[in-house]
Amino acid sequence: MNLIKEIEKILKVACEKAGYDENLSVSFSNMGNCDFQCNGCFALSKKYGKNPYDIAEDIVSKIDATIFKFEVSRPAFINIKVSDEGFGRLANFLLADEMGGLEKNEVSQKVLLDYGGANVAKALHIGHLRPAIIGESLKRLYRLLGDEVISDVHLGDWGLQMGLTELQLFEEGKLDGYFGGKEKYDITIEDLNEAYPAANKRKATDEEFKKKAEEWTLKIQQKESPYYDIYKVIRELSVKEISANYLKLGASFELWKGESDAHDFCDEAVNIIKEKGLAKLSEGALIVEVAGEGENVPAGKNEDGTIRYNNPMPPCLIQKSNGAYLYATTDIATILMRNKEYTLDRIEYVTDGRQKMHFNQVFRVCKKSGISPQEQKLVHVINGTMNGRDGKPFKTRSGDTVKLEDIIAMLMDKAKEKLVSNGAASDDETALMIGVGAMKFGDLSNTVSKDYVFDIDKFMAFEGKTGPYLQYMVVRINSILEKLNGKQGGEIFIDCEEEREILRTIIKLNSSYQICYRERSLNALCTALYDLASAFATFYNNHNIINESDENRQKSFISLITLVRKKMLQALDVLAINVPKKM
Ligand code: ARG
Repeated sequence: MNLIKEIEKILKVACEKAGYDENLSVSFSNMGNCDFQCNGCFALSKKYGKNPYDIAEDIVSKIDATIFKFEVSRPAFINIKVSDEGFGRLANFLLADEMGGLEKNEVSQKVLLDYGGANVAKALHIGHLRPAIIGESLKRLYRLLGDEVISDVHLGDWGLQMGLTELQLFEEGKLDGYFGGKEKYDITIEDLNEAYPAANKRKATDEEFKKKAEEWTLKIQQKESPYYDIYKVIRELSVKEISANYLKLGASFELWKGESDAHDFCDEAVNIIKEKGLAKLSEGALIVEVAGEGENVPAGKNEDGTIRYNNPMPPCLIQKSNGAYLYATTDIATILMRNKEYTLDRIEYVTDGRQKMHFNQVFRVCKKSGISPQEQKLVHVINGTMNGRDGKPFKTRSGDTVKLEDIIAMLMDKAKEKLVSNGAASDDETALMIGVGAMKFGDLSNTVSKDYVFDIDKFMAFEGKTGPYLQYMVVRINSILEKLNGKQGGEIFIDCEEEREILRTIIKLNSSYQICYRERSLNALCTALYDLASAFATFYNNHNIINESDENRQKSFISLITLVRKKMLQALDVLAINVPKKM
């Protein structure tokens, strides 16, 4: 049920009756004296040679409605208020309707969402946090509005880190069993977590080590024994750890494919590109020109003698002179692989801005070569970075990248501290829900593309526009309903301002879903959800639901707060924020 559409329909009929062939549009009003408004009469003045105020009066005089009250206000606005009868009918409908009044999109699209990007043998780090949070919510939003969505973690499982890690473990003597040694050592996740950073550090100074790691990587990629067997063990261990960490964030994936799966399609992708005449040899490497008009225009020289370009859009490198494929090739091949398996209307990626050029190039190559059909939308949802209080990307005190696990632990500790000071149980499950909920709401209430400051104290506050506040409001409703001991609700009737405000905020909440869908950002939903929670808090402070003596009124209250809970839980589910039993 879309009230704006309903009002527009009423206005359309009235316009016809009054002799104007017009479709007037209606919007929410922020004026405080009405719920909706229509400013369309001004524009009609010239066309009909009439004063706009008179036009508005003409139209309103032809309206016959009880749910809405229409009023003309100078100079020529039509103000629309929902009557209490209208709010009451709406509330009862919203409570009974399965979707709580939300409408699905007219056409359902099939979407593949790629928002993981974890790398095998490397710990998940802070850079993977926002894509996981945002991607998971977009997935839930798209599904709620009727899209069919497949999520793919797209593991980074084809890179040098594999060779590096194995070589390091080998040198630590942990792989002897695979190379003829008698005892087979069981590699643990701790081994992996130590091996990769150590190897990575060594690579920077030890040229020989690096070269050997490259050779090992090649052996793994060619599925040579025992390198490949060890890799499989590492991959499995790593995936177990990665999925457990994603699960803590409430993110889950249907597909656990990786760059290695795409590798089987690289030859084919490159052949398609060659057949289309798009591939060019450049110093032995294979490239595809992707610059459009006005892009990549040479504009002098850099200090180091290289050419400087305006609107840089360098060619996409798809094969090195030694025959090796690159990151771009795997993403092109992945699109080929996905399009063989599914018919997709959209493929969307969530990563930070550093990959902007990469995806731009990949998308262009796929469009030019037909690997992605023209009508398919390829979208890069770029997330801003999470900064520390100093405004720079969030780092550990020593300046290292923060591990995702450490962030989660930090959030849980803070949540426990809060719970203890509130006198509530501080078990791990509750602390995880509150800690991660706080993080997610703090993140998602910002526009996806903007940077924001990670302020754990602010995110974790139990008052204000925060995750814990929203969780707390639902906990409160649950406890009221519990105290009412199974008493049933009844028909909702609306007769006070706090109740009207609840309905108004629900209407806005419902309309925010479409805004989020269009903008691929959840901030509008977060704001609307917070407004509903605040409207509920005001209502709750002014009415004693449990001790209300008028039975019908109490029944109406019960239904109304049940509706509030339903709408809050629906929105929290899109944000993938769980609600604890107590807090
Ligand atoms: N594995 C990459 C990283 O950690 C991110 C992958 C993003 N997704 C993609 N399809 N390229 O940076």
